[in-house]
Order: sequence, then C-alpha cells, then structure tokens
Amino acid sequence: MPAPIVVALPKGRILTVLAPLLKRAGVDASTITADDRSLIRDTADGALRFLLIKPDDVPTYVEYGAADLGVCGRDVLLERASDVYQPLDLGIGRCRMVVAAPVGRDIPGDVPRVATKYPRIAAAHFAKKGVQAEIVYLQGSVELAPLIGLADLIVDLVETGETLAKNGLDVREEVAQVSSVLVANRAAYKLRHDAVRPLVDRLRAAVGA
Ligand code: PRP
Repeated sequence: MPAPIVVALPKGRILTVLAPLLKRAGVDASTITADDRSLIRDTADGALRFLLIKPDDVPTYVEYGAADLGVCGRDVLLERASDVYQPLDLGIGRCRMVVAAPVGRDIPGDVPRVATKYPRIAAAHFAKKGVQAEIVYLQGSVELAPLIGLADLIVDLVETGETLAKNGLDVREEVAQVSSVLVANRAAYKLRHDAVRPLVDRLRAAVGA
C-alpha cells in the first residue's frame, strides 16, 4: 500500500467547516473532529494522514516536506512568506484584515503606533502608504491595546465585527481579504503528482459545488 498523503491541518474551529468540505470531496474526515488529544489521525482507508497543529505552524510543516499538503489562512501565509505552492482557495474561514481605531479618535499623522499579531503585514501596509509606523507585536486580544494607550491603531482580523464593536473600535481601512488556502509542498506536488493531484481536483470541485 502506498504511503499516505500527509495533510497538515490547523487545530481549532475551522475544522468544523473543513470536515464537510472534505466529505464533499469524497474524504471521510470524521476523524479530524473527533474529540481526543491525538495529533496524528489517519483515515479508515489509510489513504490520508492528518496532522493537527497550531495554525501558524502549517506552512512550516508543508515547506519542509513534513506534510505534503496543508490548510492555512491567507493571513498566516502573508505573514510567514513561506515558500509553498498554493493550488486552491478553499473559500472557507472568510474574514478581513483591517486597520481599526477607537471610534471618533483621530489617527496621529506622524509615526502611529500599531498593535498587531501580524507585524510583517502591518509594516508592509504602512510602508506602501508611505507612513512610518511603530509596530508593537502582541499575541492576541489586540483590541485592548488602543483602549489603554498601548497603541493608536490595530491591524487585526474582523469576521462578524462583534469584537471591534464591543470594544468601541471601528474599521479605518481594509488591508487584505482572508480565507483558508490549500497549500502544497513544491516537491511533493511534482513527485507525488499521481496521488496528490486527484485529491486537489476533487477538492476544487467540492469548493465550486
Ligand atoms: C480573532 C481576531 C479578532 C476576532 C474577530 O481573535 O483576532 O479579535 O477574532 O472576530 P469577530 O469580528 O467575529 O468578533 P481570536 O478569537 O482568534 O482571539 P485572539 O484575539 O486571542 O487572537
């Protein structure tokens, strides 16, 4: 029996949306939503092996070839600038990356301080606008920073807008549209072509359906 195709998946809520998409592509992915602590989960037929990892680590596993394929947010891909092939936008996990600030507060004209989990994306965004910005890296709850004087602005993801609204912030600019992307190890995509391509094709059909 051939070695399974190894697929790196982000742990967390996206799995509940991804599992039905995989099912539509003919993959029995019930194992990925099973409530246990195992990090390696094989499909019953042994054709696929899923690795359940931190979302930020998915491109690393794929780039180094520890996984043939992976699923990760475009936000992670933009921030990490990993060298992976991106054959398919999965159209799930849709949200926006935005610049936001406290409602009614003016943005300082010179060197705004920007809190974000995405320092590279934020720096590139302000550089493109010709604005010199001081980037403050945070790991989460970024909306807090402008409320207590740590930053003037934030760059963060908005899905429903509830977190911004609850914390008295509003969107000032859009930085990027974000959704989940299928990524592939460049060598595996060529060398394991016969195994990987049919799966990608079935996923593409499932996304379009
Ligand atoms: C994400 C994001 C926003 C929030 C947006 O945070 O960073 O804070 O969700 O969602 P909403 O527009 O639907 O309210 P997450 O829940 O991942 O936690 P974090 O702040 O700790 O990163």
